[in-house]
Amino acid sequence: MSSRAAAEGASDDAASLVELFPRGTTVDERGLVIAGCAATDLARTYATPTLVIDESALRQRARAYASGLARRWANSRVVWASKSLPCTAVYRVMAEEGLGVDVAGGGELVMALAAGVEPSRLVLHGNAKTDTEMAMALAAGVGTIVVDNADDVERLERLATGEQGVLVRVTPGVRPATHAAISTGQAASKFGFGLADAPRVIERLRASRRLRLDGLHVHIGSQILETEPFERAVEALAPLGEFGTYDLGGGLGARYTYDDHPPTIEEYLDALVGAARRVLPPTAQLLIEPGRSMIAETGVTLYTVVSVKENGGTTFVAVDGGMGDNLEVSLYGQRFEATVATRIGGGATYTVVGRHCESGDQLIDGVALRDPKVGDVLAVPVTGAYCLTMANNYNGALRPPIVFASEGASRAVLRRETYDDLVARDL
Ligand code: LLP
Repeated sequence: MSSRAAAEGASDDAASLVELFPRGTTVDERGLVIAGCAATDLARTYATPTLVIDESALRQRARAYASGLARRWANSRVVWASKSLPCTAVYRVMAEEGLGVDVAGGGELVMALAAGVEPSRLVLHGNAKTDTEMAMALAAGVGTIVVDNADDVERLERLATGEQGVLVRVTPGVRPATHAAISTGQAASKFGFGLADAPRVIERLRASRRLRLDGLHVHIGSQILETEPFERAVEALAPLGEFGTYDLGGGLGARYTYDDHPPTIEEYLDALVGAARRVLPPTAQLLIEPGRSMIAETGVTLYTVVSVKENGGTTFVAVDGGMGDNLEVSLYGQRFEATVATRIGGGATYTVVGRHCESGDQLIDGVALRDPKVGDVLAVPVTGAYCLTMANNYNGALRPPIVFASEGASRAVLRRETYDDLVARDL
């Protein structure tokens, strides 16, 4: 017998902890069960660290986004921001769910095409797109290229042989409450054109023979936990004139920890589309580009505890991963929660650290765990977005695999790197 909200034998604390895990997570005598698969079985089968994605939860979110937007604004499309988890299998899920895909550069483009995403549904981004990347996108028939700067316009005009749809990225002068490194809507941003400069490039594109100006793009940042800045960004676009397409970007935050209360997809769409109704032409096409809010909460990283030691009054639980597979903590100060997979919930407070050679390699600074021991599986929820994206080989770490779990079955969709991979590029 297992149930999500009231895990058998578990305290209220444990129940609220389980709430942070993907929707299909339960607790039974095996401990934590993700999409019907015991976390300990997954760890045994695929080794650790491993990123587990609850595939049904992911599809549910893709559908919630697509139907939620279509219900509010019929002429619309959800374009998944693939930088959040660039893995061919995830692109494939998005294509199967009928979503478009945002690719930032040649690498993401290659993965999207490999997954069979319809090129006309691709949106190419980048503040420093190279000639090569533009040529790749043009050759592939990418539907939309977002113009970030005047050099983009010159390059595209030179490289395009047929008509190419473009959007102009606008920096609306909106600074949401988020980490400075992931705030992009402020006036002095490296992205896009300020409101005062946008009219010039709009005029320039309207006169272009090859480039067809479809509309405007705006993206103000990431991990935004309120709706109001999104509304202000939409409103800022109105004075620039009327266009056929508005891409309103991504940015909705995820719930990493008990104290986060991000708007739901429905609340976010109400606010965003509400603003669009107020100020944008009713016939326009609306695009949105969710990344983190699509996928973060569908992922769990499983680690193995390698050492538990007390030093200077702190008890450190060291795991077999860290900065190599999760840079959110050291780059943005993101707080995560965790549990021992077989003893859900809290006890004493521990500092969870990684295996890398610096003190900054802390996964969680102070988390209540129940009696963690060497060999235990430690599960960290909400790691679906941007963790694997920025995984690296620090200290020769091998980048983890991605495992899809669904209805009691699991399959690896991306293998773990091997030591051979580490020397494979040597010349
Ligand atoms: N559209 C554009 C043009 C973007 O640049 C981004 C994210 C998104 C959409 C999706 O935003 P989201 O819905 O995921 O917030 N490396 C950072 C995240 C950087 C986000 C970059 N752009 C991290 O690890 O937190």
